[in-house]
Amino acid sequence: MNRPLTIDDVKALARSRVPKLFFDYVDSGAYTEGTYRANEADFAAIHFRQRVMRDISARSQASIMMGAPVTMPVAIAPTGSCGMHWPDGEMRVAEAAEAFGIPFTLSTMSICSIEDVASVRTKPFWFQLYVMTDRDFVQSLIDRAKAAKCSALVLTVDLQIVGQRHKDIRNDLSSPPKLTLKHLVQMAARPGWCMRMAGTPRHTFRNVYGHAKGVNDLATLNAWVNEQFDERLQWSDVEWIKERWGGPLIVKGILDSDDAKAAVDHGADAVIVSNHGGRQLDGARSSISMLPRIVDAVGPHVEVHLDGGIRSGQDVLRALALGARGVYIGRPYLYGLGWAGRAGVMSVLDIIKREMDITMGLCGITQCDQIDQSILESCN
Ligand SMILES: Cc1cc2nc3c(=O)[nH]c(=O)nc-3n(C[C@H](O)[C@H](O)[C@H](O)COP(=O)(O)O)c2cc1C
Repeated sequence: MNRPLTIDDVKALARSRVPKLFFDYVDSGAYTEGTYRANEADFAAIHFRQRVMRDISARSQASIMMGAPVTMPVAIAPTGSCGMHWPDGEMRVAEAAEAFGIPFTLSTMSICSIEDVASVRTKPFWFQLYVMTDRDFVQSLIDRAKAAKCSALVLTVDLQIVGQRHKDIRNDLSSPPKLTLKHLVQMAARPGWCMRMAGTPRHTFRNVYGHAKGVNDLATLNAWVNEQFDERLQWSDVEWIKERWGGPLIVKGILDSDDAKAAVDHGADAVIVSNHGGRQLDGARSSISMLPRIVDAVGPHVEVHLDGGIRSGQDVLRALALGARGVYIGRPYLYGLGWAGRAGVMSVLDIIKREMDITMGLCGITQCDQIDQSILESCN
């Protein structure tokens, strides 16, 4: 394949370059993967309304997310272990996002640290927070994100316990990976990846390693990760997090209208309709199917974002038409990164923007602020 035309093409290229355990870690959902599949399938059931004979010559995908201009309303979702797909992966994705003009969100469980990413950025990025039982560590993470001039905190609330992904268990994947013979065989089958990864010292969770109490080698890091997600987390905690942070707060992992209202009541400036890409509660509804009722529940003054299943510019438009101010992509950019690093991420963003552009024209519109349910067939 000379030039990938779709996100599926990029996925196939990534599969051929990334060791199986890391590729599967991305291309998997919880249990039966029903929710993972529904996230994508439910987009395909939403039809556009074809409109003709309008002046569509001056098209733009530019918009605003969290008060800042973006070249298209598509942000980079936080993903753990992103730096196992390409050396210094989070730094390369952060550079691509800045060059393209869209928001980048760094995961708590990233390979590159907040400071690593800040060193390659000239503009602020967003930081995603997992709340751990070690509250001193959580507070220090918030302080480090502030010191790095992050402009929004994305608080993930749908991972107090970790959903089970069968592929990861079959691959003996742990967090961080403990090397087994099976892994060595899988890595040896991807020599290019091995050579590239040998060129960076960044192979473990650098937001945690050397920062959390008692974590000083891979064994202690492993034990720490496994016991740290806080099962007692509740809405009242959002208030102290917001106070410590003091900036815009986005609550990620909302799939229910009552939870959306609670998030706003406790200080969220925006919510992300998300089921963690189908990686947590298998059997939950797709993100796109829950979007309209959550938009209704929070009202017009709160930004509603969405992630889960966006695989094209057409999906972006479908989500905007149903009330999202912006969307995030997870797997698509990880596939781009695993295939060709920063250039691969840029290709993925190009594909999505071109698809948005042509589809907007064929729907008879030229600007993002013209997008509403009137561009959809099923709603008329
Ligand atoms: C490999 C992988 C790792 C992820 N790690 C995190 C994470 O560390 N923090 C988080 O809030 N969400 C995480 N997510 C969820 C994404 O932020 C996002 O919700 C999801 O990928 C969106 O679905 P999509 O992959 O279909 O675009 C992860 C998703 C994937 C695929």
